[in-house]
Amino acid sequence: MTEVEHLTERYAQRTLGMHASEIRSLFAVASRPEIVSLAGGMPNLSALPMEMMGTLVEKLVKEHGQEALQYGSGQGHPKLREQILDVMALEGIRAHADDVVVTTGSQQALDLISRIFIDPGDVVLAEAPSYVGALGTFQQYQAQVVHIALDDHGLIPEALREAIRRVRFSGRKIKFLYLIPNYQNPSGVLLSADRRTEILEICRSEKIFIVEDNPYGLLGFDRPSPNAMRAEDSENVIYLGSFSKTIAPGLRVGWALVPQALREKLVIASESRFSALQTSRKWLYLAISLINRGAIRSVHFANFIKCDAMRCWNR
Ligand SMILES: Cc1ncc(COP(=O)(O)O)c(C=O)c1O
Repeated sequence: MTEVEHLTERYAQRTLGMHASEIRSLFAVASRPEIVSLAGGMPNLSALPMEMMGTLVEKLVKEHGQEALQYGSGQGHPKLREQILDVMALEGIRAHADDVVVTTGSQQALDLISRIFIDPGDVVLAEAPSYVGALGTFQQYQAQVVHIALDDHGLIPEALREAIRRVRFSGRKIKFLYLIPNYQNPSGVLLSADRRTEILEICRSEKIFIVEDNPYGLLGFDRPSPNAMRAEDSENVIYLGSFSKTIAPGLRVGWALVPQALREKLVIASESRFSALQTSRKWLYLAISLINRGAIRSVHFANFIKCDAMRCWNR
């Protein structure tokens, strides 16, 4: 037996299902300086006010260094969670800071939710096509993803009904519907307001909860996007947000807003991951400082990133 076989023979079942991430290959191309990539959700960081960011980091380390550079708890700083409520209010969400769990980007939230809910062979419903990072996570937990057609107005409710019928007829268990209602990755489609209501009704009546992944909601070009689905249903929707697109992905600050009954499990799952202890609290504090300056509340960042992207695109 070779040294490699000695190790591979002992892989856990779930490891056998692990494949190289499509995101890695995508970013390998998208990060080349000569490429303006529309394939990944990469914000235009040349539009970020780097001088202001530098001043904030300096202030942060001087004034809060002891705390910011220390380990942190699983749920995230209370002040940041309060301010995340302000951001979500822009999309009609009213919630309590106790139900917000700060994560290392929304990618970590996807991982935690998958870990809590998915047993091997469970079905996750998702748009066709859907975000490769989420699909890779579901796959690692050995879920079967059933894709549902979308058109120019987003996921088609009748196709959802049909998929639920088909999966249930085959005896499989549906764990949740994964949706990106705003500027869907990769299609860019915006789910219409009436379909949001219809999909919420279908999922409520079929007892399927929704994971609403919304990193792009505040980046609309010409008009605000419809209210978040979580704004209409606080019981049956897990909402995922992120500062990766409105500020910078390097911050690695995202969050999950969860029904109260799930909060404790999510915090425990987050605390038992080494990555949660590692979460760079310096960057969490930076996010707080930025929000304090009204940057997110006025959607200033979103706007200038968007304007700059348009300028580049029109050149
Ligand atoms: C739909 C969607 N969800 C989640 C993510 C991951 O975001 P984060 O940087 O917050 O982990 C991305 C990144 O491209 C995305 O497009």
